[in-house]
Amino acid sequence: MTKPIHILNGPNLNLLGTREPEVYGTMTLADIESACIDRARDLGVPLVFRQSNHEGQLIDWLHDANVNASAVVFNPGAFTHTSVALHDAVRAIEPPVIEVHLSQTAAREDFRHHSYVAPVARGSITGLGLQSYLLGIEAAAKCL
Ligand code: DQA
Repeated sequence: MTKPIHILNGPNLNLLGTREPEVYGTMTLADIESACIDRARDLGVPLVFRQSNHEGQLIDWLHDANVNASAVVFNPGAFTHTSVALHDAVRAIEPPVIEVHLSQTAAREDFRHHSYVAPVARGSITGLGLQSYLLGIEAAAKCL
């Protein structure tokens, strides 16, 4: 049986819906999860959807994905711009990792312009809101 795609979400994404709706929209993370489940079902791939505010937890989940996932769709939140440890974890694992962001980080503050994850990701999809996730799942499914 095909291994699932793991969707990993980083810090503060649990607050979607009320967090800066002018930047991130009004969908909650649960809304995004349910749209992702629908898209994965259409593509015939199982899905695991997770969120944590803790860098170490995300690293442990990337290690878990190395064994149990066919691909990873990863929104590292603010750790995108700070975390050498997440860069190393993505670099260390076998399954392709697609980096996704709801907002167009290149059009925001300077400190969001650099991603530690992008150089080790298979690809990056940014600025398209929910579509970033749905296209990330389609890209991940094509990598299988
Ligand atoms: C984000 C962009 C990051 O810069 C920010 O820290 C987030 C969300 C996005 O999905 O647009 O938490 O990853």
